[in-house]
Amino acid sequence: MSKNFDVVVIGGGPGGYIAAIRAAQLGFSTACIDEWKNEKNGPAPGGTCTNVGCIPSKALLQSSEHYEHAGHAFADHGIEVKGLAMNVGQMIARKNTIVKQNNDGILYLFKKNKVTFFHGRGSFVKGDANGYEINVAGASEETITGKQIIVATGSNPRALPNAPFDEKLILSNTGALAIDAVPKKLGVIGAGVIGLEMGSVWRRLGAEVTVLEALPTFLGAVDEQIAKEAHKLFAKQGLAISLGVKIGAITAGKKDVTVEYADDKGNAQKAVFDKLIVSIGRVPNTIGLNAEGVGLKLDERGFIAVDGDCKTNLPNVWAVGDVVRGPMLAHKAEEEGVAVAERIAGQHGHVNFNTIPWVIYTSPEIAWVGKTEQQLKAEGVAYKAGTFPFMANGRARALGDTNGMVKFLADAKTDEILGVHIIGPMASELISEAVVAMEFRASSEDIARICHAHPSLSEATKEAALAVDKRSLNF
Ligand code: FAD
Ligand code: NAI
Repeated sequence: MSKNFDVVVIGGGPGGYIAAIRAAQLGFSTACIDEWKNEKNGPAPGGTCTNVGCIPSKALLQSSEHYEHAGHAFADHGIEVKGLAMNVGQMIARKNTIVKQNNDGILYLFKKNKVTFFHGRGSFVKGDANGYEINVAGASEETITGKQIIVATGSNPRALPNAPFDEKLILSNTGALAIDAVPKKLGVIGAGVIGLEMGSVWRRLGAEVTVLEALPTFLGAVDEQIAKEAHKLFAKQGLAISLGVKIGAITAGKKDVTVEYADDKGNAQKAVFDKLIVSIGRVPNTIGLNAEGVGLKLDERGFIAVDGDCKTNLPNVWAVGDVVRGPMLAHKAEEEGVAVAERIAGQHGHVNFNTIPWVIYTSPEIAWVGKTEQQLKAEGVAYKAGTFPFMANGRARALGDTNGMVKFLADAKTDEILGVHIIGPMASELISEAVVAMEFRASSEDIARICHAHPSLSEATKEAALAVDKRSLNF
């Protein structure tokens, strides 16, 4: 087996494995190195996303949503459920199977595309514009070379300085996805994406969930109107969210963990939880890469410093995904991976940061693309807004899922769509129409004039576009 490659990718998450496949498609001899191990110490490519992120969290969200529907929503349809019970072990086993299917799928894709996979930790040995030596420390040590290197080493959960993760009582995303019995009282520090998704899973299964958030505003990055609606709905579901708190001492006992904090009025509070999830953001991962040894520059926050094209300070070394600036999202990592492979091939790789969608997979789902209303105000942009509630959408009523709305923001003069914000059923799927529209710089009038299937949730998108011009038909 050759040890000399045109392209060597370090990291097999969505940024790395997709970059490797695209590089191989473009005719380069390509290797991908990934160190993630399954419980048998075998390879488990797919990174955070596949192993302890996007995929397992969505599996648990689905299981817990079925359980909640069986408990509350089915009766309305005339479906009687007796003796409803939750087998958490089976739910976790199903999640593990789905993760494994994805790991195996990536290994299959590597074979299909002739990407050579190395299981182990990759680190820079030495190199220059003519190529780099990369050491792979796995079951055995070996050194491979690459003319071009793509670093896609991802990110790790950020711990509170006084509460290291033990994954038994104080949990990162890894532990939060592997809880084996419903905790009676679950604490969550950080009301961000992980906190809300994981908090929702365990609340649906019966845990009493308290979410402690440092900022005084709920979901500050989300459009204010949508965030307000979400806050109201989550509170109604029973997620106890406290904003503006200051976390103090955290003490792990034998079976529980005590969190002391000051509430938004400065009053001292104390809460005891059976489990505590700490989800306060993630930090870039360059551990073991020997970045300093070859002079690979990091920025002041520890991200690999890159330009707009994902080029690092070293010739022919690129970096993509969570380990570089920008949103920590799997699809952003993938787009950068594809773009870099294409740039290596002399093509014009393309990533439009203005049209990267965000989704929070709570119920209702929250999804958005482009600018929020508060951003447009702050930037002094003249805009028009149109909203349409799912309550007035026939398909949503048939589904029994009428919470939320679609909101359009368009330029006051040109009508170009500047942002679309959705809270409601299948927001994660509906947002794609807005992404396509914005990528093609469509106006709200364009969407308003397109025929949408009836009855469908997507009609709410069309109606919100019509509402921009104050001519929605069904509300
Ligand atoms: P990673 O996925 O972190 O992959 C990096 C890989 O590199 C890992 O396998 C790691 O082991 C390996 N590695 C690191 N260093 C080395 C080395 N020196 N040698 C060899 N291998 C190395 N994003 C979404 O878009 N949608 C979601 O629904 C979503 N849900 C999430 C849920 C949770 C709970 C979490 C934690 C994250 C979620 N994310 C989601 C974020 C998403 O997982 C990340 O943005 C994405 O995984 C980043 O991809 P990446 O390739 O940059 O890095
Ligand atoms: P986050 O950035 O979404 O939220 C962290 C929250 O913790 C913020 O609201 C922050 O104000 C708060 N916080 C920070 N320090 C705190 C402290 N000391 N005390 C109390 N609160 C504090 O980060 P999270 O939820 O950890 O997720 C990390 C990243 O993973 C996300 O930003 C996202 O990029 C990705 N992700 C994406 C998902 C999706 O796309 N659906 C799902 C889950 C994660």
